[in-house]
Amino acid sequence: MNSSLIAFFAILAVVSAGQGYPSFLRDTPRNVQQGYYQIMRDSTLTQQQKDQQLQQWAQTNNLSTQYSDYTQQQEQMNQQASQNTSQIISQLSNVQSQLESILNNDSQTGAQMQQAIQSLTNQYPQEVPVIFYIRKMAMRQNNN
Ligand SMILES: *[C@@H]1O[C@H](CO)[C@@H](O)[C@H](O)[C@H]1NC(C)=O
Ligand SMILES: *[C@@H]1O[C@H](CO)[C@@H](O)[C@H](O)[C@H]1NC(C)=O
Ligand SMILES: *[C@@H]1O[C@H](CO)[C@@H](O)[C@H](O)[C@H]1NC(C)=O
Repeated sequence: MNSSLIAFFAILAVVSAGQGYPSFLRDTPRNVQQGYYQIMRDSTLTQQQKDQQLQQWAQTNNLSTQYSDYTQQQEQMNQQASQNTSQIISQLSNVQSQLESILNNDSQTGAQMQQAIQSLTNQYPQEVPVIFYIRKMAMRQNNN
């Protein structure tokens, strides 16, 4: 598998994160769980159709309250993920400048550079790895 494909699946996994195993299903009968996954996995349905069918499924199985609590939680998590993502992006330029000045500082030892990168990473634990990832992508040939 080439690396673009791997990146693509990684992205899919992130986007669908949280659509894993809903905890409210844990104590339900197997056939009820199967009904849920059958709808979830049906790739011919639009999201709207899926929502409708899942609501119907929940009602049929007396799980409407649990299901709507669950979807609310998911909704909140998705909103938070978007907010967090925006927050990280808004810091990238600032953190990149700081990183560049560390990388361009010729009057420091290797150990001092490592230490400086480490402390920047402690301060921006999400942003620094993202910037290194972008650098890597930026240095790569276009053909993979
Ligand atoms: C749902 O609840 C109603 C009323 O309590 C009950 O009659 C019915 O058997 C329940 N259905 C299921 C699938 O549990
Ligand atoms: C968003 O960021 C906050 C603070 O870093 C974190 O506690 C929360 O788990 C994050 N939420 C998501 C959905 O990534
Ligand atoms: C370069 O690194 C040295 C050693 O860590 C530090 O004292 C100095 O302030 C740095 N210079 C700049 C321009 O950041």
